Amino acid sequence: MKIAITGASGKTGYRITEEAVKKGIKVKQIVRKNSKIPKNLKNTETFRISLDNKVALDKALENVDALIIATGARASLDLTGPAKVDALGVYRQLQSCKRVGIKRVILVSSLCTGKFFHPLNLFGLILIWKKIGENFLKNQNFDWTIIRPGGLKEIEKIKDENIDYSKEDTQFKGSIPRRLVAKCCIDSLSNKQSFNKTIEVTSSSENKKVSFKKAMQNI
Ligand SMILES: NC(=O)c1ccc[n+]([C@@H]2O[C@H](COP(=O)([O-])OP(=O)(O)OC[C@H]3O[C@@H](n4cnc5c(N)ncnc54)[C@H](OP(=O)(O)O)[C@@H]3O)[C@@H](O)[C@H]2O)c1
Repeated sequence: MKIAITGASGKTGYRITEEAVKKGIKVKQIVRKNSKIPKNLKNTETFRISLDNKVALDKALENVDALIIATGARASLDLTGPAKVDALGVYRQLQSCKRVGIKRVILVSSLCTGKFFHPLNLFGLILIWKKIGENFLKNQNFDWTIIRPGGLKEIEKIKDENIDYSKEDTQFKGSIPRRLVAKCCIDSLSNKQSFNKTIEVTSSSENKKVSFKKAMQNI
């Protein structure tokens, strides 16, 4: 299997690449011209392009079985970032998937997507634009999965962190290490029970351990 990962230079994105590589999945990292990629992934196939460049994006997405979208507007003073990246950027990636024939797409989104009264919206109404991005994906052109994590944590100590997997709009607080989000994306790739589902994920040592496969039977 070969997959493309956009936002592969991000803190979740590079971990998705690592988890894929661990499983023997071939990866095309799709990043911007000046994006920084960790040293250990420098030899992984990489396309440095703008998501606005249709021709380059189509070329980068050719001959892959699936796309994992881990792009997201980086916090900045430019409040148009979420509209440009989390909505329009997702739209452009999906249009390219249609042109090159990619059906399987996984989108890393966020808990509380679609909520208006939320402090995160101070950054360019990000939760509204993320919902618009999600909606572009939810149609029969795609075998889609939306992973909505809680607050992302950098910790790598995940031994005691068990995931609470739940349906759309059921969790409104909590956090999860990025490493576990990356693992969810890879677990989801060929798990048909995760197709056409929005999956909310947070983690804690207080949760019971459940496998991704088992969790999908109840979502
Ligand atoms: N932070 C949280 O607590 C939290 C909670 C829930 C969900 N999320 C969402 O989870 C996802 C991953 O978050 P993260 O914190 O791991 O991400 P991150 O480290 O901020 O990485 C974002 C990625 O998106 C890329 N990107 C940004 N603007 C772009 C553009 N205009 N064109 C192309 N690529 C662009 C970045 O590229 P460069 O490296 O070139 O900048 C980077 O690869 C995001 O969608 C985020 O909104 C975050």
